[in-house]
Amino acid sequence: MIKVGILGLGTVGSGVVELLEKDRSIITKKLGKEIVVEKILVRNPSKQRPDYAKGKIVFNADEILNDPEIKVVVELIGGEEPAKTYIEKALKKGKHVITANKEVVSKYGKELLEIAKQQNVAFLFEASVAGGIPIIRPMKRCLAANRIIKIQGILNGTTNYILTQMQENKKTFQEALFEAQKLGYAESNPSADVKGFDAARKISILSSIAFNTWITPDKVYTEGIEKIGIEDIKYAAELGYVIKLIASARKVSDNDIEIMVCPTMINQNHPLSSVRGVYNAVLVEGDAVGEVMFFGQGAGKMATASAVVADIMEAASGKNCEYNFVNCDINVVDVWTCKSDF
Ligand code: NDP
Ligand code: HSE
Repeated sequence: MIKVGILGLGTVGSGVVELLEKDRSIITKKLGKEIVVEKILVRNPSKQRPDYAKGKIVFNADEILNDPEIKVVVELIGGEEPAKTYIEKALKKGKHVITANKEVVSKYGKELLEIAKQQNVAFLFEASVAGGIPIIRPMKRCLAANRIIKIQGILNGTTNYILTQMQENKKTFQEALFEAQKLGYAESNPSADVKGFDAARKISILSSIAFNTWITPDKVYTEGIEKIGIEDIKYAAELGYVIKLIASARKVSDNDIEIMVCPTMINQNHPLSSVRGVYNAVLVEGDAVGEVMFFGQGAGKMATASAVVADIMEAASGKNCEYNFVNCDINVVDVWTCKSDF
């Protein structure tokens, strides 16, 4: 048996606990041991909690972080602080940590991975990029033999949902954003989604792994979708294009990469043009493999829980998927204009 402490019982946290409960027997069989959610941290004492949380709820993170019986901590509260402090404390206490928090991973991933390495524990964050799509581990492991040439993707479910609703159902930006919030796709502060910061954090994490050098989100040229109107979408369609918020990173010389997030006109024949709603997709080009594409739900309760629970199982099994960031002399070059090769 392995005891787990969960920080946060919102969209993703509740999905994780429900999935662990629903698939308990198959997960236990696959892993050879049972995963038991011991304690769950929340903030608001007056919120009604589901039955499965009874007797497990705590309001002080130390009850989890200082519990020697808890070997795995799952951070799902979001935001920079106190999430980063909790992750760091848990790692320093010798606990494995799983998170879906792209803000913390993109800004502090390098130092947190170093602490994890020193402590010989796992720090895993598969759900931090593209929700349920397996991309971090495939990039790190399955594509390890490649020099990555480019990554292009739709990495934010909320903005893709908004753009799809504006295009297909003539919804206004505000109507579509409100729906995305109600469906649990948006960040607690949705400006991170619509201004492109969330996608910038995700492409910085992916690029760090792909190019083997940590690239923080402040290096990513970032434009959001707030200026895109129904008229833009209509004119793009007349020309045979759809507008998508594209995150991309590409080698422009041996040592330079260009990395950006911006709304882009995509030819209707391009595979990324058919990625609708909350779905995300990531196109990766490696020197040996050529182009590969990953596709699936980029946000949402159960899809994201799928990635988090897989990480819990990986940590519980004792594998820690180490990352070694060597100095690869990679520079991020300035982006002067949003270029399109679609
Ligand atoms: P929610 O806002 O739905 O849930 C957050 C939870 O954390 C709530 O239970 C809240 O408590 C708790 N919480 C927040 N702040 C604190 C605090 N200071 N102390 C204790 N508890 C706190 O967030 P999501 O589940 O949507 O997102 C969680 C993380 O997963 C974020 O990092 C997000 O970016 C990431 N993510 C989200 C996806 C999605 O589809 N939603 C997909 C992929 C990643 P209370 O219940 O009391 O309010
Ligand atoms: N707000 C994020 C999105 C959640 O819409 O993609 C998944 O990371």
